[in-house]
Amino acid sequence: MEIPRGSLQTQTFYEQVGGEETFRRLVRRFYEGVAGDPDLRAMYPEEDLGPAEERLALFLMQYWGGPRTYSESRGHPRLRMRHAPFKVDQAAHDAWLRHMREAVDSLELDPEHEQQLWKYFVFAARSMVNSAD
Ligand code: HEM
Repeated sequence: MEIPRGSLQTQTFYEQVGGEETFRRLVRRFYEGVAGDPDLRAMYPEEDLGPAEERLALFLMQYWGGPRTYSESRGHPRLRMRHAPFKVDQAAHDAWLRHMREAVDSLELDPEHEQQLWKYFVFAARSMVNSAD
């Protein structure tokens, strides 16, 4: 008898929303927004946003239960520390979340997954703020 995939083990969030393809779409859309936002774009040191896109995609895939490639290449995330060189103020926070909101919407997830993902981004973005003005 064939056992339906996912019936014995609980699927991770990563698998439930469609795996790598979904996270790649999310991050691609997010960086399209960054590329078109001069103030936010100016914060990103590299001329090519491709490597930053790759790092965010791998981080999110790992966070939500997918492959651990991020830590294999970058080590422990320590995200707040990695953001310390950048001035993440309220305006940067708002811009980041605005582009992520559009990216999340573009995935057209079911409401439960969409809310879980969004709540995480709101919380994570808040915790990355490191400058008062
Ligand atoms: C609150 C507003 C935020 C701003 C303005 C911001 C800005 C930046 C900048 C300028 C970089 C450097 C680009 C690079 O070279 O990779 C970066 C890296 C990164 N950010 Fe953010 N970020 C924000 C929030 C977040 C949040 C909420 C997350 C996670 C959910 C996140 C995850 C990452 C990751 C994984 C990297 C690459 C870290 C590495 O391996 O070096 N960021 N961010």
